[in-house]
Amino acid sequence: MKNYNIYMLLLFCTGSLIILSASSTYNSSQHTIAGTKFLQDTMKQSGWLAPASADSIKNPLSITQESISKGEELYNMYCFSCHGDTGYGDGPAGGSMGVRPANFHDQKVIKQKDGALFWKLTNGKGNMPPFKEALTDEQRWQLIVFIRELGKTE
Ligand code: HEC
Repeated sequence: MKNYNIYMLLLFCTGSLIILSASSTYNSSQHTIAGTKFLQDTMKQSGWLAPASADSIKNPLSITQESISKGEELYNMYCFSCHGDTGYGDGPAGGSMGVRPANFHDQKVIKQKDGALFWKLTNGKGNMPPFKEALTDEQRWQLIVFIRELGKTE
């Protein structure tokens, strides 16, 4: 009878251990799911990396009133609808999309090299159209000059 009690106790302990470990696995998988979701949310703004080689593409234009205003003209034709009048990524066509248009005032954009932004503008990704065919190299650089200026405004 005594042996039987010990056996039952052991069974009980093992049983609770299994339940405990199962519930903690369950919890940690919940955390992982929440963590991934968080990552995806932040990725919405910052997950897009240009290849490292793009950093060395040099901007051939100097920052003059002319290149800025040429860029502004192009921006108002092709970009403002998504990126917004003032470049906060809040344009009327950007609202309903999964990945929000970039905010040019964001440090994540400001800290990138001209070459990386030029590469992204050229190649596009998802909701960001590629402008390789639509615009000349010079026009795309004028846009880079302009969105830099835009990023400095309030
Ligand atoms: C149809 C909407 C749309 C239009 C039009 C558009 N963009 Fe975008 N743009 C986006 C979206 C969405 C992203 C974010 C893409 C991502 O991160 O996956 C983006 C990202 C960018 C980035 C990358 C910023 C970063 O986070 O590194 C640059 C640069 C950019 N756009 C410039 C432009 C310029 C310049 C124009 C106009 C010639 C333009 N875009 C037109 C939607 C648009």
